[in-house]
Amino acid sequence: MMQSALDLTIAELEKIRETSDHLPRASKNALAQLQSTYSAVASATVTPALRQGRRDADMLPGKSRLRHTESNKAHMLGLVRERVCACMNCAHLVRSRIQTVFGVGNPDAEIMFIGEAPGADEDQQGEPFVGRAGQLLTKIIKAMGFAREDVYIANILKCRPDMPPRSLGNRAPTSAEMQTCRPYLVEQIEIIQPKVLVALGAVAVEGLLGTRGAMRELRGRWHSYSGTPLMITYHPAYLLRNQSPSEKRKVWEDMMQVLDRLGKPISEKQRNYFL
Ligand code: URA
Repeated sequence: MMQSALDLTIAELEKIRETSDHLPRASKNALAQLQSTYSAVASATVTPALRQGRRDADMLPGKSRLRHTESNKAHMLGLVRERVCACMNCAHLVRSRIQTVFGVGNPDAEIMFIGEAPGADEDQQGEPFVGRAGQLLTKIIKAMGFAREDVYIANILKCRPDMPPRSLGNRAPTSAEMQTCRPYLVEQIEIIQPKVLVALGAVAVEGLLGTRGAMRELRGRWHSYSGTPLMITYHPAYLLRNQSPSEKRKVWEDMMQVLDRLGKPISEKQRNYFL
């Protein structure tokens, strides 16, 4: 339906361009863009939800899955990234940010790690988890047998929460900021369709599930985000503040559950590993 409507529109515009004195008001460039957007959508499996004209953000995994091919995931993510880059939804964050921080990694990743929001380092570099907490996350990912490029890393918020002038550190996102930004993450998850989600810390849990709870009760157990298995674990920044080996070991045990769920073999060395 969508395909034939677009085909007809494009054919009609081309006919007018070739036969009429009045050129249609669509450039070749615009037509090419239309065509490429159409190709990306058409090569996904179109579900009843899409036929009803719902937006991507409403198509939650498990409810009505669009099955994207590997090659168009990057394209679809690129379109969301463009909207995030131009986002002006939170005027205070638009004023304070250096840049938006979209997400990084494999568009076809099996695992997606979700943090809370960019900090100062991420705001500077435009990539999530590149500061001290990010270095610890990278170490965890490597210990699991992956490279950073194999997984996908994103945050609930795409802008660094603003801070009073000359103050150091970062602040947690507000519930209102999370609600405003959440649809972008929902779209990222829908496009990537990871086998497992990992929520890092209580803020990520609130952003994803809309619930607040004690991390000691939430972590280490399987939850579900719209049909996708969700492991909750401590945020790496918590491990930097609390250097207790037992807390670090808990995170590692949570990650071994993730490996198990993915059907990855866990070596003896990995079983005995301490972060
Ligand atoms: N903490 C987060 O939650 N996200 C980042 O990107 C960096 C630090």
